[in-house]
Amino acid sequence: MRLAGFAVLMALGACSWGSSDLDMGHPPLAPAYLKDMPGEMRNGLAVNYTQADVGVINVPNLLVSSNGKRIETADDWLGTRRPEIRQLLIDNQYGVSPSVASTRKPTIKHDYSEHGVLALNGTAMRSQSTVIASTAGGSHAIDVLLYTPARATSPSPLVLMVNFSPNIVMVDDTGIKETDGWENGKRIPGRQARVIAKPDVAAYLARGYGVALVHYAQIEPDFDGGSALGLRKIYGAVNEAGRKADEAGAIATWAEGLSLVREQLALDPSIDGRRIALYGVSRLGKTALWAGANDPRFAAVVAISSGEGGAALSRRNYGETIGHVAAAFPYWFSPKWNSFAPSPSSSPVDAHIVLAMLAPRPVMVIVGETDAWSDPYGEFVAARLATPVYRLFGKVGVDGIPPLDVATRHDLVFMMHSAGHGPAPQDTPAILAFLDRNLQAEGS
Ligand code: GCU
Repeated sequence: MRLAGFAVLMALGACSWGSSDLDMGHPPLAPAYLKDMPGEMRNGLAVNYTQADVGVINVPNLLVSSNGKRIETADDWLGTRRPEIRQLLIDNQYGVSPSVASTRKPTIKHDYSEHGVLALNGTAMRSQSTVIASTAGGSHAIDVLLYTPARATSPSPLVLMVNFSPNIVMVDDTGIKETDGWENGKRIPGRQARVIAKPDVAAYLARGYGVALVHYAQIEPDFDGGSALGLRKIYGAVNEAGRKADEAGAIATWAEGLSLVREQLALDPSIDGRRIALYGVSRLGKTALWAGANDPRFAAVVAISSGEGGAALSRRNYGETIGHVAAAFPYWFSPKWNSFAPSPSSSPVDAHIVLAMLAPRPVMVIVGETDAWSDPYGEFVAARLATPVYRLFGKVGVDGIPPLDVATRHDLVFMMHSAGHGPAPQDTPAILAFLDRNLQAEGS
């Protein structure tokens, strides 16, 4: 098997792969429906949209530990390799979470302004609350809008959605607390904010799931300098331009805020704290993957269009690269990650490592056929490369590329929707089926 895989690899000659991948054979080539396109310039950097020009891919091997030991069991993985790669990701991509880096430890309060109020035409019980993190340096508040199915007779599984827009514009409901929106670095009234990627909350409720909504910019506004106004402010001033190599950026901060919220929601009597899934799109898909990787109490993760710095392999020179992220959003990841821009292959980490951190928990990676910027095939390859780690747990990952709009069935799930960037209508039924298989099976 291994030799056969190697022969294919030599014949193709284009890529080289770690031995963890050779165990499965070479990944299938990019499907023909992903059409090559002319390149372009973005932020002064060339963008490649030709699969044949992606370059040589040499991925860090997930199944060999730093001392050369082959990782053969789930125990080896959990005891040896996972802690190693977690540290590699902290050191080389996300930075040290603000609360870990600081000597100030926050106290957390969770205040409800309402709990279990009938809403959405009698289909839901609505709760609104504020999670407040305080240190000697100050306080920071994050508002949570929660709906649980009105007909629930036991604590509900929950999907925590981290969104681009304030809660007030994300659900058609009156009485939602208005919090600030942001436009070009300036506060605007939340109700005037652009609605981006509105979820079908009713569909989740009808299927027995609670939905909690959080506006990411309330954890920390999304611009260079936003840290002074966000969660990081309670740990002391952050000089974003002068961050240390392994100092956290916005993505790790958003992830930390989501963990704080998860921890509080898990205490809500209407929620089953063991069945909280996290959902995010685009930069919030990148965030959801790291939040889920870092906080094993997230029971599942759904990451849509997460692209570069998310589920797409950075080593593939296709669509957005580390260089493009570092140029446009230098405050998202750590300075160390930005420094790999000239040579992504020199990074000791990549997207398959982040996905593997989630094993054996269910994760669903959705990306758009026409979203070349997010490198859809690069997301598939990363899922394929993480699959051997899922297999250590007797779990199933991806092998071949599924047809468009069809999700693979098991634990590490991949779906390519026949649409572009962001959620598509066909995602919701696929996500619900994924959640049903994974969160409804036990304890419901
Ligand atoms: C930009 C950015 C992407 C990001 C996306 C989004 O396109 O380059 O990395 O995923 O915004 O968050 O919508």
